[in-house]
Amino acid sequence: MINDFVSATVSTPFVSRMKQYLRGITDPIRFRLRVHFQPRKNHIYSHFWRFPNQYAVLVEQLLPRLLAERERGKADGPLEIVVFACCSGEEAYTLAYVMATHAPGLPIRIRGYDIVPDVIAQAKLGSYPREHVGSSPFVTPEFVAGLFDSQGEICTVKPQLASLVSFEVGDITDAAFMGQLAQSDLIFAQNVLFHLPRPVARRAFGNIVGLMRPGATLFVNGMDADMRARLTKHHGLEPVTQRITEIYEDSRVDRGARWADSYWGREPLEMSGDWMRKYCTIFSKPGFGKPGSSEGGVV
Ligand SMILES: C[S@@+](CC[C@H](N)C(=O)[O-])C[C@H]1O[C@@H](n2cnc3c(N)ncnc32)[C@H](O)[C@@H]1O
Repeated sequence: MINDFVSATVSTPFVSRMKQYLRGITDPIRFRLRVHFQPRKNHIYSHFWRFPNQYAVLVEQLLPRLLAERERGKADGPLEIVVFACCSGEEAYTLAYVMATHAPGLPIRIRGYDIVPDVIAQAKLGSYPREHVGSSPFVTPEFVAGLFDSQGEICTVKPQLASLVSFEVGDITDAAFMGQLAQSDLIFAQNVLFHLPRPVARRAFGNIVGLMRPGATLFVNGMDADMRARLTKHHGLEPVTQRITEIYEDSRVDRGARWADSYWGREPLEMSGDWMRKYCTIFSKPGFGKPGSSEGGVV
């Protein structure tokens, strides 16, 4: 009886502190083992409005630079946006909404590619159950009203936004397919590279970077962090560091809990070593002019 009382009042906090302490040591090791040895597997899932802080950086940092470039006559034709691993269209349609809201009248073309024909067919339909639309914790009523025409439980992308977007089957690991795509201004390859075996992801990353025109920006959440740090440096890409911690925490909402249990876990952010390249999810290719000069350039 007395023992029960003692363990309930004294040892329980001690035991839980000990467990927490031991997890602090073993979790990083378990996670590294998962990253290097757990087999990779395709996962089909996506949400609308998945990374609000990435969209904020797009609007606050990147869009003004892209518009200024156009005013200086350094770019013509539509702004080219490519969404690789577009799943059933959520990310591409979210971008159509963001761009149409913040740069109305700017000619844009958004092309989505995914390796799975069924999700491309779903993306082309542009109709979703209301429950799926609301499945992201960040989706707001304003976003839903702006992107969709709703009828009962079905939300259909508004025709003027749907007309900015097209979808085709495409494989980021296929160098011949990737090599015939147009150079682009904004490229999204999110939450796909970490589902590929590491040597395959490395090659796919090279194929993707090959499509960045000078001054282009790549959004690449969901890639092994050590590989991201190494490969972005190797390819001469500059991290766009605004809101880096907020963006990181956005993706910990669905990938943070039990992060050490799988290769796609999102470890707690630690500001040491090459942490900016490791945790940053937005990278620009050096472009026209010098950074910060009136000629523009990477941010
Ligand atoms: C987890 S979903 C990510 C969807 C979306 N990009 C996002 O972040 O919400 C991964 C998607 O990548 C696609 N995918 C897997 N391997 C691919 C490849 N080699 N080329 C293009 N898409 C691929 C899958 O079919 C799936 O739709």
